Amino acid sequence: MNISRRKFIRVASLSTLGALSVPLIIKGFDSIADAEGARINTEINENFQPDIDLELTALQKEVQLFDGQKTGVFSYGSRILKGGDRTVEELEDTYLGPIIRVKPGQKVRVRFKSQLPRESIIHWHGLHISPEMDGHPMYAIERGEQFVYEFTVNNRPGTYWFHPHPDKITGPQVYYGLAGMFIVEGEYPDLPTGKYDMPLILQDRQFDSDNQLVYPDNRMDRMRGFLGDRMLVNGRPEWHTRVKKATYRFRILNGSNSRIYKLAWSDGSEVVAIGTDGGLMERPVRKPYLMLSPGERVEIWKDFSVYDTDEEVLLKSLSFESGTSMGMGGRMGGGMMGGGAPQVPNGREFDLYSFTVSAQSGPSKSLPSRLSDPGSIDVSRAVNADRPRQFSFSFERMQWVINGETFGMKEVADWEKVRLNTTEIWEFINGGGGGMGMMGNMMQMPHPVHMHGLQFLIIQRDVSGVDRSAWQTVKDGFIDEGWQDTFLLLPGMRVQVAMRFEDYTGIYVYHCHNLEHEDMGMMRNYEVIE
Ligand code: C2O
Ligand code: CU
Ligand code: CU
Repeated sequence: MNISRRKFIRVASLSTLGALSVPLIIKGFDSIADAEGARINTEINENFQPDIDLELTALQKEVQLFDGQKTGVFSYGSRILKGGDRTVEELEDTYLGPIIRVKPGQKVRVRFKSQLPRESIIHWHGLHISPEMDGHPMYAIERGEQFVYEFTVNNRPGTYWFHPHPDKITGPQVYYGLAGMFIVEGEYPDLPTGKYDMPLILQDRQFDSDNQLVYPDNRMDRMRGFLGDRMLVNGRPEWHTRVKKATYRFRILNGSNSRIYKLAWSDGSEVVAIGTDGGLMERPVRKPYLMLSPGERVEIWKDFSVYDTDEEVLLKSLSFESGTSMGMGGRMGGGMMGGGAPQVPNGREFDLYSFTVSAQSGPSKSLPSRLSDPGSIDVSRAVNADRPRQFSFSFERMQWVINGETFGMKEVADWEKVRLNTTEIWEFINGGGGGMGMMGNMMQMPHPVHMHGLQFLIIQRDVSGVDRSAWQTVKDGFIDEGWQDTFLLLPGMRVQVAMRFEDYTGIYVYHCHNLEHEDMGMMRNYEVIE
């Protein structure tokens, strides 16, 4: 049954977000109802026969991350109603939600319940599903309500994820712990499986002396995006693990709010990428390092059988320049923002995870030269091949904007309407566009651009406008092969992507995946029309 949706006046002043820094005592917010007309799917459809049926509840709890006081977090609790025990893997002693494993073609039902103090909705990042199931902010439910998702897994095997998507408060909800991996499994006998197929979810956080999470509550910090001073991998502070002399497949998700990683191995060995956001590439790609911006996934291949017993290899984030400038004096350094400035700004070198090679061996595999048949898009058939739509991500009127606009719940401009069953080329420009005042030029940041509802192909990355010295520090880290749903758009960069609008009509969002930018309105709707 669908019910007509009430509209809530959202109280998102910075002081209310500040209240989130003590999540366990957040009070509910008063809401005023009126008709918005979004159709909330509150009940199960008896005609839908799910292969997998599970309940995900967003709740507040405490987890033992450190010695001493437990940490108050938000978390997705899960209960499997149908689908076998491998479908949902709970990670222990972490705030992170479960790892959900499904197969292409499976029918999935998720009963999302919320016990959060404020509204929320789950978005399935990377999935090609209908707008009603995608977790648009207009479908956010209140504490005590339920939203039922029912969809078929249309995607290729690959590494996707899920996280909240309520308007203006996605950043803090993800930050306090709401996120999980959603793996679409394939049959790849040549690739590592089981415990040799390992998720690595990268997130930076900041804790106070009572082990409680700290989230910025001042406008300048939020304008830049949250940057923490400590890394958590898979929602845990430990950063050591022992591995066997075996080949591993790492599914790396950048689940951070705004931190960009420059991934590399400490011994200088190549980073061998086998998959991107939308699954395995046709062939492996070897890089000295990989840039991974918030929301993006990359799958890498690592053979530890070539190392000696007790040898340690670190996965690191190397130093780089992102071309960020926040006004007054150019490039941003540590501490420049004042207030709760990051102790570890974007671009600072640090260790992510340490692998110590044990004496035991496991299966050692040889890297296939051909991984999959990813398919393609016939770009010559794009309806706007000679005149791509342009989307400028910039700073105007003291706000992060897309083509001069910020998010409006159901707002779709003419330049955001596309036709079903067409191919288009969109060009994303960081800092471009006319009418930028002096302040616009002074405020430049990287923006991880993300489209909902589909996977696209990057067909051109024009870096001629990127600061030369910054570019030198990142230029070898981009993978423009394979299917993507998120990519890093550096200041001055122009990226063209090709996409097909298929199967569903309706409204999806696209936005900057720096979650603080998203919350501040660097998000828009696009609509697929008949
Ligand atoms: Cu992972 Cu709209 O985002
Ligand atoms: Cu998404
Ligand atoms: Cu941004």
